[in-house]
Amino acid sequence: MLDKVKELIGDVKAFNASTKEEVEQFRIQYLGSKGVLKDLFNDFKDVENHLKKDIGQALNQLRGAATDKVNELKNSFENTAESKSIYGDLTRPSEPINLGARHPISIVRNQIVEVFDRIGFTVSEGPEIEDDWHNFTALNLPEYHPARDMQDTFFIEKDPDLLLRTHTSSVQTRYMENNTPPIRTLSPGRVFRNEDISARAHCIFHQIEGLYIDTDVSFADLKQTLLYFTKEMFGKSKIRLRPSYFPFTEPSAEVDIYWGLETETDYKITKGTGWLEIMGCGMVDPNVLKNANIDPTKYSGYAFGMGIERIAMLLYQIPDIRMFYENDVRFLEQFKSVL
Ligand code: PHE
Repeated sequence: MLDKVKELIGDVKAFNASTKEEVEQFRIQYLGSKGVLKDLFNDFKDVENHLKKDIGQALNQLRGAATDKVNELKNSFENTAESKSIYGDLTRPSEPINLGARHPISIVRNQIVEVFDRIGFTVSEGPEIEDDWHNFTALNLPEYHPARDMQDTFFIEKDPDLLLRTHTSSVQTRYMENNTPPIRTLSPGRVFRNEDISARAHCIFHQIEGLYIDTDVSFADLKQTLLYFTKEMFGKSKIRLRPSYFPFTEPSAEVDIYWGLETETDYKITKGTGWLEIMGCGMVDPNVLKNANIDPTKYSGYAFGMGIERIAMLLYQIPDIRMFYENDVRFLEQFKSVL
């Protein structure tokens, strides 16, 4: 009998199962109420006394081995079932989810769009690869016009003439071609100029263009709209319009806002004057309206254009324009709290 029990211990230790059901069968076979161990313990009663010690020990060993085997196999099935399920252990701490951040250019663009949306401006877009007509000629900048030099252009092709738009004013032209007054539209977008890259300037940057055309639009309307904008956007309520020149507007002006001289930074960014230039604007030149088949005797309008980087640099005190394009997460992460 001792040999038989020892053989069974070997069998038990070598046993393996591929399903839970097989484990259960094994358990019933060995440990069940009609199982192998039950029979052996019954037989044990008839064992001669001098053999009882060895056989008893062996039987206990067999029972221990069978119990261990059942537990071990049961556990292994439970673990794999758990790791295979979608949720795993629901009591485990979760993976940390990193909050993303919008790019500061998007944040500022959205804020500007939102301010003008409240007074009825829609958003329009045009292509970044433009032709001479939409970027220059239609905007009252015929060939050889000296003002073309104001904007160092990246030319792509001569025939057909293609270039990278130097300002979002090109969208004005396109919008007027496809819409009739009243027009109230805002055109945000990327523009390109062949300029040396420095802390203040880049060859790629962003602008937002505004265009308003209707009957009886005056310079006073322009000024009130810009005042509303600077109040909403910067919380500043003093602006001044300095005479300037743009070929597509007449009269033209440069808009300054009174930033104040409260901190050292204020002194630095306003060069000690308290005033900051934030955009160009003017009344749409009658020639521009004519080029778009809008009757300048019936309609008038205003336009303005501002650089988004410049405004973002002011609002967030960003010292170098190149930071916008480097995609350094240490910079971008700082905008997590802004929607
Ligand atoms: N397009 C001009 C620029 O890029 C800005 C501007 C837009 C000025 C509309 C007047 C009217 O500098």
